[in-house]
Amino acid sequence: MNIESYDLAITDSMMHLLLMADPDEREVRDYLDGASILIVKDLNKLIGIAVLVNRDNRYELKNIAVHEGYQGKGIAKHLIMEIRSLAKKQGAVELFVGTGNSSLIQLSLYQKCGFRMSYIKTGFFADYPEPIYENGIQCIDMVVLCAKL
Ligand code: COA
Repeated sequence: MNIESYDLAITDSMMHLLLMADPDEREVRDYLDGASILIVKDLNKLIGIAVLVNRDNRYELKNIAVHEGYQGKGIAKHLIMEIRSLAKKQGAVELFVGTGNSSLIQLSLYQKCGFRMSYIKTGFFADYPEPIYENGIQCIDMVVLCAKL
């Protein structure tokens, strides 16, 4: 699997993936400014992306997404291990990631990649215009996980 860093303009296919993880395009564009981006390609097709953001020395995996046709093959696990190394190279000692209380796949993925639950932003998603449901559970709280690097 070939993971590359990317520092050119965001393409439509990249934005499509990024919006799978975070539907607020304005917010996505905001945190992409100054972020480190890793991509995975299958030949020339973009199949995965991950975004590392450093704000005031707080490092966060802000976005990760894998194309639907390529999920379940370990691509996200590889991307996260590369993001961990990159954050460490940049001087991070901790890496945070936030996800919904109902995001069971993501909670499993992050814990398998060495993250532990750190704290909860209670009611973080409660005021979203449309309620979000996953796995039959309403997404209301953000679970913040942290990996020691
Ligand atoms: N059902 C249950 N668990 C699953 C799963 C599924 N369909 N797909 C992945 N997982 C979990 C498993 O714990 C898996 O570990 P295992 O292989 O040891 O069972 C772990 O995730 C890693 O799987 P991997 O193949 O590396 O993940 P992926 O490449 O399919 O990508 C996401 C996972 C979450 C990035 C992908 O589903 C995605 O892009 N979802 C939409 C965007 C998103 O939700 N991003 C995260 C926002 S917080």
